[in-house]
Amino acid sequence: MKDIFYVGVDDHEIELFEGQYPVENGMSYNSYLIKDEKIAVMDSVDKNFSQEWLSNVDKVLEGKLPDYLIVSHMEPDHSGSLIEFTKKYPNAILVATDKAFKFLIQFYGDVKNEKIVVKEGDTLSLGKHTLKFITAPMVHWPEVMFTYDEYENVLFSADAFGKFGALDYDDPEGWACEARRYYFGIVGKYGNQVQTVLKKLQGVKLTAICPLHGPILDDNLDYYLSTYDTWSKYESESKGVFIPVASVYGNTMEAAQVLAEKLTSKGVKAVVCDLNTDSMTEAFEDAFRYDRIVFASVTYNGTIFPSMNYFIDGLVERGYQNKKVAFIENGTWAAMAGKVMQEKLTKCKNLELLEPVVKLVSKLDESSLKQIEELADKLV
Ligand code: FEO
Repeated sequence: MKDIFYVGVDDHEIELFEGQYPVENGMSYNSYLIKDEKIAVMDSVDKNFSQEWLSNVDKVLEGKLPDYLIVSHMEPDHSGSLIEFTKKYPNAILVATDKAFKFLIQFYGDVKNEKIVVKEGDTLSLGKHTLKFITAPMVHWPEVMFTYDEYENVLFSADAFGKFGALDYDDPEGWACEARRYYFGIVGKYGNQVQTVLKKLQGVKLTAICPLHGPILDDNLDYYLSTYDTWSKYESESKGVFIPVASVYGNTMEAAQVLAEKLTSKGVKAVVCDLNTDSMTEAFEDAFRYDRIVFASVTYNGTIFPSMNYFIDGLVERGYQNKKVAFIENGTWAAMAGKVMQEKLTKCKNLELLEPVVKLVSKLDESSLKQIEELADKLV
C-alpha cells in the first residue's frame, strides 16, 4: 500500500476482550491513515491508548492536519479516542452513517466538528483516492460500514476479517484459529448480514483487506473471503465430532472419552472439551467448526449442569444450525439431561438427531457401553 499507513495500537493489558473473550496474546485496535491531497484517518482506538494513537497519527501527518475521520464502527474499542481526536483536530470532518452519529451522541455527547452522513454507495474524494462507502448493518452492529479505496483497491472492513491477538505477537497458528473464535464469538449470530455484504463485494477488485483487529490481509484474499462465506452460511468447516462435556465426578467425562477413543479407532477425528475447565469461547468455535456434535451432561437440579446450560444458550443465541447431533446423559436418579438438552436445541434449525441417546446411570456399565458403540457407528 503506497499512501495508506498503519497508525493503530497493541493492547497487552487487556485480559478479557468484551469482558468475556480471553486474549492472552493481547489485542490490536487498528487505525489507518490515507495520505492524499486530503488526509483521512480511518477509525480511532480504545480510550486507554488515545495518546499513543494520536502520537502515531502525528508522526505520519508530518506537520499536516487530517481532513477527515472516517468512523466505521462506534463500539468503544474503536471510538474510545474519538473525542480526544476532535479536541486536537477541531477542523477535521467526521464521516459516518446516520446511526453511527446517533450512537456517538449516546456514548459521548455531541461534538462541534462538522459531520458528513454517508449511505450506501456514497463516495468521498481525497484526490487520487476515492473512498466508496459500503454499509454493513449488523456486522455486527447496525451502524457499521466498510470503506473501499478505489485507487489502491483496499477494503477497510470494520470488525469483519479481524482476529484476537496483538500485531506484535507472531501467531504460530496463523489467521484462521483466532479469526474463527472471534467470528463465532462476536459476529456469528449475524451470518445472513455477513452474506449480504459479501455479495456486495463480489467482483470488486481487492489488493488488501484492512480490518479493525488483527493483521492486514494482503495475499490469497480468496481464502479469507471463502472462509467467511463458509462461516456465515453456517456450513461446517471441518469433518469431525465435537464432544462438549459437563461432568461433576468424572463419570460423564469417562463416557465421552470412551466414545472419542472409539471414533478415533474408526478413523474419525474427535475433540473432547471439558465445559467446566476449558475455554468456553473455544467451545463455541469448535461447535460451529465441526459437522457433528455430541452433548454430554449430568442431570443437576432437575435440569442440566450450569456449564452445559450456558453453552447451549450461547449456541442458540448464535444461530447454531446444520449439524448432526447426539447426546450422552447421566442421572443417578430421575435423569433429565437428555430431555432438557434436546428441548433447548429445538430453537435451532436443521439439527439431525443421531440415536441412541446414551443413558448413564451414575457411571458406565454394560448397557451404556453398548449404546456408545452403537452411537459411534452412527457417527461414523
Ligand atoms: Fe471491534 Fe465491534 O468492535
